[in-house]
Amino acid sequence: MNLSSPLLFCLAAVFFSAASPHQIWNKLTLTHHWPTTFCSMEHCHAKISYWTLHGLWPDNGNECNSSWHFNSSQIEDLLPDMEKSWPDLIKPSSSSFWKYEWQKHGTCAAEAESLNSQHKYFSKALELYHKLDLSSALNKFNIIPSDYYKFSQIEGAIQSFYGVTPKIQCAHSSKNTQVQNLGQIEICFDSEFTLLDCEKNPNKEKFPEEVWNNLLVKTTSGFKDQLQNAAIKLVSMLRAALNSTAVPNGIEHYTAKVR
Ligand SMILES: *[C@@H]1O[C@H](CO)[C@@H](O)[C@H](O)[C@H]1NC(C)=O
Ligand SMILES: *[C@@H]1O[C@H](CO)[C@@H](O)[C@H](O)[C@H]1NC(C)=O
Ligand SMILES: *[C@@H]1O[C@H](CO)[C@@H](O)[C@H](O)[C@H]1NC(C)=O
Repeated sequence: MNLSSPLLFCLAAVFFSAASPHQIWNKLTLTHHWPTTFCSMEHCHAKISYWTLHGLWPDNGNECNSSWHFNSSQIEDLLPDMEKSWPDLIKPSSSSFWKYEWQKHGTCAAEAESLNSQHKYFSKALELYHKLDLSSALNKFNIIPSDYYKFSQIEGAIQSFYGVTPKIQCAHSSKNTQVQNLGQIEICFDSEFTLLDCEKNPNKEKFPEEVWNNLLVKTTSGFKDQLQNAAIKLVSMLRAALNSTAVPNGIEHYTAKVR
């Protein structure tokens, strides 16, 4: 498809200006990892047997503000909880993991007013993490470490507990090709921090109607049918374009190795 087509470009501009002017993301992913699986890949020593935080990731943007440096004194009151809930599994006594997550994801999340400081970003991540309490949720469904489950059992437990579909990532175990190790569980939220299916991109849902309204407002009845047909075509092209831009995101998040 040709993204430089003027009409298409114009429609995209209509959409993006209709969204909040400063915020480029619509979805947040709260990523949990299982320390033992993570450490089996990263060669660290995990003595933790609960799900810990990996990060809170907006669906759009990386390293959005390189001049906004991580400063741990701004989250001093959160540090005891951070060390427990969001530990750096590779360098346990350092803040390098938080610094990395802030630079890569936090500076982008901060485009929303609700997350526009380090304190807001880290405290919101901790708040969501505690609210979800994933370790207890899995326990309630008798999904416990060192046992064997079908992928669908784990997904089903999370779905019935939270009412939304998570994204689950497993890591191959070198010993047994039939079995994979549960590595990461992602739970998603919209920009109002309401739970959301991870596969659902709010952009895709919102997009057609906004284009639609803008088009109809601007046209007179004589052109309406023609324009509607053109709009249907464009919307499906743009949907496909949005679908394809979602792919690199998925790849980046695929393994616990990437951080
Ligand atoms: C980037 O961060 C710096 C330091 O906090 C801030 O002064 C500046 O306004 C930010 N830039 C943008 C575009 O948000
Ligand atoms: C870090 O934050 C503290 C508290 O807001 C502030 O006093 C200090 O100057 C900051 N340090 C840097 C290097 O910006
Ligand atoms: C976009 O992705 C969704 C979900 O994977 C799929 O149902 C839909 O057909 C795709 N749309 C296009 C235009 O490729």
